[in-house]
Amino acid sequence: MDIPEKTVLITGGANGIGRCLVHHLVESGAEVGVLDVDQPALDSLHNQFPSVYVKNCNICDEASVSQAVEEFFSSRGRIDILINNAGIIRDSPLISLSRKLERHKYELWKQVIDVNLNSVFIVSSHVVEKMIQKRTKGLIVNVSSISAQGNPGQSAYAAAKAGVAALTKTWAKELNGFGIRVACIAPGFTNTDSAIKAMGEKITQEWAKRIPIKRLAEPDEIASGILFIIANDYFNGKTLELDGGVIL
Ligand SMILES: NC(=O)c1ccc[n+]([C@@H]2O[C@H](COP(=O)([O-])OP(=O)(O)OC[C@H]3O[C@@H](n4cnc5c(N)ncnc54)[C@H](O)[C@@H]3O)[C@@H](O)[C@H]2O)c1
Repeated sequence: MDIPEKTVLITGGANGIGRCLVHHLVESGAEVGVLDVDQPALDSLHNQFPSVYVKNCNICDEASVSQAVEEFFSSRGRIDILINNAGIIRDSPLISLSRKLERHKYELWKQVIDVNLNSVFIVSSHVVEKMIQKRTKGLIVNVSSISAQGNPGQSAYAAAKAGVAALTKTWAKELNGFGIRVACIAPGFTNTDSAIKAMGEKITQEWAKRIPIKRLAEPDEIASGILFIIANDYFNGKTLELDGGVIL
């Protein structure tokens, strides 16, 4: 799919990988909309790119998503591409032995599943409805993670990201009849503020040594993988693993 004049909605586009992608898409002539909950980052994004539609929208809340998708769709007339990028990393082992036996909190499980998986279902269902109404031969790109392969300490995150990859395969089959392509990217460890904060400097450096390329990915490199998926109409129903060759 060519990018110029395409209308692209990105969740979590105010920071990190999503923000980097916004930059590339705007420069390539796309009309971009961003749903995010970080208001200061949305404000700075809007200052940087006044043409970008920015909306403070919690993508786990269906009513807010419905309203935001409707608003973006009405103002631009169509949605060609959805990038399901927003996510949070909150780690916890199933049972922690650090001080005393402590179970993975169910509340934390639900929060991580909500933001990383349920939101993908909510936003996609609303956007695909618009694509089908308008007979748009659209594209959904889901952002999974290398953690989908199973990562100790990340029960909820790994399950959510594996779920995102499974939705990709399911929707690629289900939406093929409407001309809608669905694909996925699974980044490895990527140098964004939130990832470094979640892992801590020390663990980040240890991880970097385990990556055959010996460093984290830069957000630009992951954005470039998403741009490849957009450009290549034959990439469908699969996950692009962009992880520097690391094995968990
Ligand atoms: N950085 C990594 O190492 C890494 C590795 C693999 C996969 N990923 C995935 O890539 C994606 C982007 O990661 P990142 O490192 O750029 O993260 P980031 O924290 O820099 O950006 C994520 C954005 O999502 C937004 N967000 C969070 N919860 C939201 C909600 N409920 N509603 C709307 N917006 C919400 C945040 O405000 C933030 O702007 C995520 O899905 C993440 O899981 C990241």
